[in-house]
Amino acid sequence: EHADRAKLIEAHELAGKLYEYLLHNTEQGKEAKQYLHARGMTDKLIETFGIGYAPSRWDTLTNLLDKKQFPLPLVEQGGLISAKQDGSGYVDKFRDRVMFPIRDWKGNIIAFGGRAMGDVQPKYLNSPESMLFHKSRTLYNLHAARPQIRKSQELVLFEGYMDVIRAWEAGVHNGVATMGTALTPEHAEAIRRLAERVVVAYDGDNAGQSAAYKSIPLLENAGCHVKIAMLPGGLDPDEYISAHGSERFVREVIETAVPSIKYKLFYYRKNYKLQEDGEKLRYIQQALRLIAGLTSPIEREHYVRELCSEFHLTFESAMQNLNEIRLQAEKKD
Ligand code: UTP
Ligand code: MN
Ligand code: MN
Ligand code: MN
Ligand code: MN
Repeated sequence: EHADRAKLIEAHELAGKLYEYLLHNTEQGKEAKQYLHARGMTDKLIETFGIGYAPSRWDTLTNLLDKKQFPLPLVEQGGLISAKQDGSGYVDKFRDRVMFPIRDWKGNIIAFGGRAMGDVQPKYLNSPESMLFHKSRTLYNLHAARPQIRKSQELVLFEGYMDVIRAWEAGVHNGVATMGTALTPEHAEAIRRLAERVVVAYDGDNAGQSAAYKSIPLLENAGCHVKIAMLPGGLDPDEYISAHGSERFVREVIETAVPSIKYKLFYYRKNYKLQEDGEKLRYIQQALRLIAGLTSPIEREHYVRELCSEFHLTFESAMQNLNEIRLQAEKKD
């Protein structure tokens, strides 16, 4: 119901204010701020993204909401507080965590992601699905990034909060995150409505690379042109910026993102021992199957030529092979 939604948003906005206040004005908050500073976050960034701190007490937010006469069962449904086992009231859901507010595209806080500072599991605790928060449709930072996304017709897709925030500091103001690795068709549709082009900048580890690979058909089916940013050494964007700086991040990661076909070729290539003839021939077949899937004849020719020059093939034999693959694919349809 509309009134419930408005009330729940109000509770989230109040919680956001409280967490910010506690980060800046308490002893415990000081430690959280030191944690953020140690991770390369400036005070200005902390403020821009409304980052806060949820203290370790069980009742800080619950008491405030109760005092302000918020309907606690509703707030519980929204995931800010949890009902006690014995039914005697409520406790705060987020405790001793650095808090990242998650906003809808209009800028309302609809959820939080809370990061533990030690080895506590889970590393990030996120708000559950609620009448406000649908994870499969929400992109972190879309509200702030929207103007630049529209203007540039390009969106940069990250995995996590820290990646978006540190990339923002590096000048990437069109970055959003899926908050994990599962891009959905709804995300892809929402992205296409805003921008023609997407740069996927997922983590450089295996999970991130495989998620980037899986994002390609989703985004392309929605009608986006897709490039993939390749992060070396298993780093994620946040770690890359810490290791190599903002300028190199923009120049050597974002601006050198490769077209999706190149990424697919690269992705498969790792599975073949190319110094062995049999493996090499199987890779060439695999590469031709990938290239055969391109709709533009000019692009097909371009990538076939590249393959030929690398593996010392004649263009004619490679094209003959490619056309056979395309004929077989047509028969199947
Ligand atoms: P990562 O595991 O890559 O974490 O998850 P990260 O963003 O690099 O986090 P830091 O740098 O260690 O702080 C990417 C995103 O997946 C979601 C979060 O949104 C995170 O930013 N995630 C991850 C969770 O929701 N829960 C988790 O326990 C871990
Ligand atoms: Mn839902
Ligand atoms: Mn990751
Ligand atoms: Mn990461
Ligand atoms: Mn990280």
